[in-house]
Amino acid sequence: MDARPFRRPVVSPAMDLVELEQRARTLLAPTAYDYIAGGADDERTLADNAAAWGRVRLRPRVLRDVALVDSSTTVLGTPVSLPVLVAPMAYHRLVHDEGEEATAAGTAAAGTVLVASTLATTSLEDVAAAAPGSPQWFQLYVHRDRGFTAELVARAGQAGYRALVLTVDLPVLGYRPRDERNRFTLPEGMVMANVGRSTEATDGSAIALYAAGELDPSLTPADVGWLRGLTTLPVLVKGVLRADDARTCVDEGAAGIVVSNHGGRQLDSAVAGADALPEVVDAVAGRAEVLVDGGVRRGTDVVKALAMGARAVLLGRPVLWALATGGADGVTALLGGMREEVVRAMALCGCPTVADVGPDLLSFPPGRP
Ligand SMILES: Cc1cc2nc3c(=O)[nH]c(=O)nc-3n(C[C@H](O)[C@H](O)[C@H](O)COP(=O)(O)O)c2cc1C
Repeated sequence: MDARPFRRPVVSPAMDLVELEQRARTLLAPTAYDYIAGGADDERTLADNAAAWGRVRLRPRVLRDVALVDSSTTVLGTPVSLPVLVAPMAYHRLVHDEGEEATAAGTAAAGTVLVASTLATTSLEDVAAAAPGSPQWFQLYVHRDRGFTAELVARAGQAGYRALVLTVDLPVLGYRPRDERNRFTLPEGMVMANVGRSTEATDGSAIALYAAGELDPSLTPADVGWLRGLTTLPVLVKGVLRADDARTCVDEGAAGIVVSNHGGRQLDSAVAGADALPEVVDAVAGRAEVLVDGGVRRGTDVVKALAMGARAVLLGRPVLWALATGGADGVTALLGGMREEVVRAMALCGCPTVADVGPDLLSFPPGRP
């Protein structure tokens, strides 16, 4: 077990995530910054994602001997140094020349899992090769072309990915005003490497055009079963916000549920991950592992998620800011900083191990079930 002495709190510069984002912004094309930072419609859900974690209060335990604190755990059997994984995000080359390869190397060095996106600007084989021997998961968008989708699944298995993350909250792309205004498209020469082509310029968002043309809006619960039939890898379903949907996915054989509103980029006014998590945990009742994302920015947010019953969280945008400013090392430093924060929050909550984090730590606001 990787128990290690609790060190005195140190806020490394990388953990000032506001400053990190500002630094990244100065390095990026405004259209790339907007694509990453933005959300759907009025960005209500985007704002609420972080705010929802802030509404949760903790009831720390004292006198629990936290001389040694261990933040390591497992997700679907894979050991990780902290309960924080890197969320699937498209187009890492927009922010750094080494793109997903740098993210993969940086994430592996921090001892956790990168979920590689179908829409990566590096092929899934090259992402895997950038962190040999390190566990990675592959995020799947089901394309209208089911043959192509099945090929992606086979390639992910051959390349050594340990799990598939089926994203189901994108039957159509959410309306993203910034990208429409900017006519966002991939820069000349940059391709969606798994798909083997770039986006096509249009008078609005090129991604909206891609999603409408290529992604399958007709998915039903039976497609979770279809996917399971294609692979021996465990399947997680990402983008679930309700108890009934979570139950259905588990009934179809999902090994994990990712509670997510896609970082506020899909349905604006969708409930925040932190608010949806308790009902999903309840519904799943231990039959699958539950992960959550959206607005996780502090070690205390991670502890809150675990206390609510999540196995781990996914971290999105801050990873791209870290990649933009520092490449692979930037990603490692960000995750290391996050680990420091998780360890500190655990110590202050009286929890020497992740297994000690429980629901008694939570103090929900008045009126909350
Ligand atoms: C730039 C960007 C690209 C994304 N691309 C994908 C994707 O390809 N597949 C997917 O399932 N989710 C995608 N997401 C959603 C993330 O996986 C995740 O749900 C979200 O970013 C978490 O919220 P956070 O950014 O507040 O941490 C993307 C998010 C961002 C910011």
